[in-house]
Amino acid sequence: MPHPRLVPEPIHLQLLPGRFTFGASTALKVSPGAEGAARLLRTLLGPATGLPLPARPDGSVVLALDHALTGLGEEGYGLTVGSEGVLLRAARPQGLLAGVQTLRQLLPVEALAAEPVSGVAWSVPCVQITDTPRFPWRGSMLDVARRFQPVSYLRRYVDLLALHKLNVLHLHLTDDQGWRMPVAELPRLTEVGGDPHGGAYTRDELTGLVAYAAERGVTVVPEIEMPGHVRAALAAYPELGNHPGRSYDVWDRWGVCDTILGVHDGALEFCRTVLDEVMEVFPSPYIHIGGEECPTTEWHDSPAARRRAAEEGLPGPAALHGWFMERIGRHLLDAGRKPLSWTENGADLPPYFTVMPWRDADHGRTAVRRGHPVIMAPHRTTYLDYPQSASPTEPPGQAGEIVDLRTVHGNDPAPADWSPEEAARVLGSQVQLWTEYVPTTAHAEYLTFPRLCALAEVVWTGRHDWSGFQERLRHHRTRLDVLGVPRRPTSAPEPLLTPTS
Ligand code: ACM
Repeated sequence: MPHPRLVPEPIHLQLLPGRFTFGASTALKVSPGAEGAARLLRTLLGPATGLPLPARPDGSVVLALDHALTGLGEEGYGLTVGSEGVLLRAARPQGLLAGVQTLRQLLPVEALAAEPVSGVAWSVPCVQITDTPRFPWRGSMLDVARRFQPVSYLRRYVDLLALHKLNVLHLHLTDDQGWRMPVAELPRLTEVGGDPHGGAYTRDELTGLVAYAAERGVTVVPEIEMPGHVRAALAAYPELGNHPGRSYDVWDRWGVCDTILGVHDGALEFCRTVLDEVMEVFPSPYIHIGGEECPTTEWHDSPAARRRAAEEGLPGPAALHGWFMERIGRHLLDAGRKPLSWTENGADLPPYFTVMPWRDADHGRTAVRRGHPVIMAPHRTTYLDYPQSASPTEPPGQAGEIVDLRTVHGNDPAPADWSPEEAARVLGSQVQLWTEYVPTTAHAEYLTFPRLCALAEVVWTGRHDWSGFQERLRHHRTRLDVLGVPRRPTSAPEPLLTPTS
């Protein structure tokens, strides 16, 4: 009886004798509230298996939403497979969606194919599973500002996240090198800022992506960078900057750009206008406003910015950063959303911000001690733009670190030596794929897998069973093969732009 090698590993799994086989006559018994899980099961299994899985009151595959199952939390599920039938239960629809992904992994790997497969028995081993995630935030950040990816690719990416029970797609939509989010009142943002490195989404594409992701239990969290990383916006609307009369190009280099937003009313109003449209398109409770790598030289040099700092009673222009984040964070709060941003040191933002420590993991502890909810994103264990091995055949990547599979697996979002109160403020963790060195989607997937599997394992299970994970991953890679995820770097074209850092 081969053990089902699932990634992430369920918290409790008992393998039982026997198998259940799906066939043309297998029907679903769908309780009220479980319709979305039934649709997802049909959508995921249909292409390979051709199983119609109609809904019938006497269906042998029961999908049941039961609010009394409070022990399973928001996202947990129970899955019982017997030789005569399947029972998937959860307290919330989100739990049923997670259970559907488990059922999918229990099937032969061919079930993941995009084309019809014949000659395979669609059977699953009898099991008893009770499963709940350790962390509520399990994510991946994709930088579509440096390299635009069509929305069809984002849908595939969402599917790959959902397979691993990740529930957040953090979309880095704007940066110095591109602006990908349309804003009706500010058409030049995408007309000017969408060139030259790719394009921009339409509002309908983004709205469609949000719905597609929700059907798979994934929330799309948008990120709009401010007050730094805004060169593409300044190319479109130079009056937002600190130099009246100056014009800017969309940046054609990598690194940290010292052109930043001004602190005049027009710049603040611009941010509010953009974020109001962002909130219309993205129902996510969390809205990310960047905040990091903001050199304040321009504010020091600008009489208007110095005047603003003095008027606001700030000790100097450098303090305008926290002031700016407070102003914009407050706008999100007033709209009923939760401001989210990168933190440079764990102590640079108003306490009502949820923060992502990205420099040092230790900044996470500083942040939780200040009372911030924290999502761990330390670069040494979660940045997938670093090469995953020291091999000379590894394609060019971000310099400075090697982030191998074991390093990502070793990421401990809430270490054991933190107090229970500190650990309770950790919402979870995510990997990040910055795309300066990532010219194609094949390259993106080569960098993302299998390291994303290690992140998924850690944030779902809270365990660090390295040898067990490796053993299961060997089999899981055959699932990724069926899904067409490349195992090796495709020939690496030259970076589109000249790296400067
Ligand atoms: C970052 O790496 N700029 C958060």
